[in-house]
Amino acid sequence: MALGLPLAANADAVHGKVALVVDVDDGWLQVLGPGAPGPIRVDFASPAMLHRRKGGQNELLGRAVGVRQGRRPGVFDATAGLGRDSFVLADLGCTVTMAERTPALAWLLGTALERAMVSGEALVRAAADRLALWPGDCTTMTVPEGAVLYLDPMFESQRGSAAVKKDLSALRLLHGAEPPGEAGEQSLVQWAWAQPCSRIVVKRAAKAPLLTRNAPSHQLQGKAVRFDVYVR
Ligand SMILES: C[S@@+](CC[C@H](N)C(=O)[O-])C[C@H]1O[C@@H](n2cnc3c(N)ncnc32)[C@H](O)[C@@H]1O
Repeated sequence: MALGLPLAANADAVHGKVALVVDVDDGWLQVLGPGAPGPIRVDFASPAMLHRRKGGQNELLGRAVGVRQGRRPGVFDATAGLGRDSFVLADLGCTVTMAERTPALAWLLGTALERAMVSGEALVRAAADRLALWPGDCTTMTVPEGAVLYLDPMFESQRGSAAVKKDLSALRLLHGAEPPGEAGEQSLVQWAWAQPCSRIVVKRAAKAPLLTRNAPSHQLQGKAVRFDVYVR
């Protein structure tokens, strides 16, 4: 995969705010500078990820996309990021397509998926079998008819635990040259509402305004985040 990033052969040659570090069998994001937090990995078998799958927010996420007894919808996660919501949905039994336009993140997702497919944890392998990656801008893609479209474009607000804030601020740095901004959000909304999907689910910070002027069919409110559900 062409990453379009300048290559630094060693730590002294690194410039910028965040680096993608590639090792023999691993890769991670590293925020640079004094006081920077530790590495950010995409690892579907990590203890943090396995703990997260049991979290209360997952139940809300599952209900938001329409998981119920005997029903596991196909989900198109148009803004996959670090793939955490995608993994939770796949673990709940949904088939999930992850679109991610930032090449470094798409590369991390792809290598994490390869590792998950041969994980020693049966539940991680099972979830990986239900995950697929589409690197690129979702607005160049068409969501399969009847799928649930999931959007989490959120950069503007601080939300959740210290760990979540750390990850989101690294993603923000990664997008420093091209912040999504309101125009980016509006083109995402226009594209989303033109898709032949059965439902659109938008993840927002608990108190954030709606992403669009359209009123949601219903909302699922959590402590840190909220899911706005548009049934079509
Ligand atoms: C807040 S993060 C998503 C976090 C994700 N829900 C998770 O659980 O890790 C938003 C991501 O959406 C991606 N994104 C924004 N607009 C996009 C677009 N038009 N196509 C594909 N990815 C996009 C950004 O690159 C960013 O990585």
